[in-house]
Amino acid sequence: MAETSEAADRAFWRHLVRPELAGLEAYVPASHAGLRAKLDANEAPAWCSDRVRELVREALARVPLERYPDPRALELKDALALRGAPAAGEILIGSGSDEIIALLSVALARPRARNPQAVILTPTPTFVMYRVTAQAHGLKHASVPLDRDWDLDLAAMARAVDLMAPSVIYVASPNNPTGNAMTRARMAALAAKAPGALVVIDEAYAEYQGSSVRDLRAASPNIAILRTVSKLGLAALRIGWLEGPEDLVREIDKARQPFNTSALSQAVVAAILRDGWTEVGAAVGAVVVERARISEALGRMRDVVVTPSSANFVWVRTGRPAEEVHAALLARGVLVRSFHAAQGRMANHLRITVGSPRENDALLEAMVEATGG
Ligand SMILES: Cc1ncc(COP(=O)(O)O)c(C=O)c1O
Repeated sequence: MAETSEAADRAFWRHLVRPELAGLEAYVPASHAGLRAKLDANEAPAWCSDRVRELVREALARVPLERYPDPRALELKDALALRGAPAAGEILIGSGSDEIIALLSVALARPRARNPQAVILTPTPTFVMYRVTAQAHGLKHASVPLDRDWDLDLAAMARAVDLMAPSVIYVASPNNPTGNAMTRARMAALAAKAPGALVVIDEAYAEYQGSSVRDLRAASPNIAILRTVSKLGLAALRIGWLEGPEDLVREIDKARQPFNTSALSQAVVAAILRDGWTEVGAAVGAVVVERARISEALGRMRDVVVTPSSANFVWVRTGRPAEEVHAALLARGVLVRSFHAAQGRMANHLRITVGSPRENDALLEAMVEATGG
């Protein structure tokens, strides 16, 4: 009954709604009720010390609540510069990197060559929002499979560039959901083969890799770097940013709503970048230690193969269909992400976020039972 009326509602609005939306689903988070371990969203485990909590309280107390936020977010940009970001003019701040991806779809929507619509090119599998955001904005999405090691297939990407003249190419490194970093030389070569496109290297997980390819920007003017604090235990604050050429940032900035990030988020992230970074680093280090522990323990289980991870999650192939393992883990209070719906070589894959030691113990215990040890 409900389905019928939903379909009828959709039919009524069809003359107004962008047709591409018919093929999309709104994001519905999984329920957390009663879980022992929530390991499905690549969040960091709780990490704030009393000292950091005090720092946050002080930062919040200084924000004038009656004023709009600083639309240029200058205090935040200055603090980012302390942690390796470029000058303020080369930074575009968004409400998470998700908003930057949306802004790129708005600002860089001019079709190239003979394309009727601008084309967004990505490898596959990768972060799903590149495709969803492109489709929601009426752009065309094209994808090229990663190679058998889940690395960039440079020759196939180059062919797609020649064929499709993409406007934007996204490369997540480390990649979500596979966890591995792309080969640096392949990313540089891809940018050289696509001089008319913007190549966005999404480093959402770079801290867990311990390195960055920010320096590629010096030799490749069409590379921009996408970063976020979400994976560093600050997902609630919704702060992400693009690092790119000043003249491009200036253009995209015209499409940004001036007060897109809250003053509270700007102030808290700036304070943590300035005075809480040692604790962030320690929390990242603890996850990296746990990543090694669970990768090794999972790798010893029957028919389980773990791709070496440079992120805060692991990409795991199971002997049984991933859907069954996912259900067996959930029955034991452990929530992970299954990729069975993607079929093909993904059908037996799970993406498991590295949690706290206690959550990881719960995961390993449940996995032994789910895989038959
Ligand atoms: C590769 C990648 N980029 C970006 C994001 C989103 O980050 P944000 O929370 O800053 O929007 C994610 C989140 O899962 C991700 O995996």
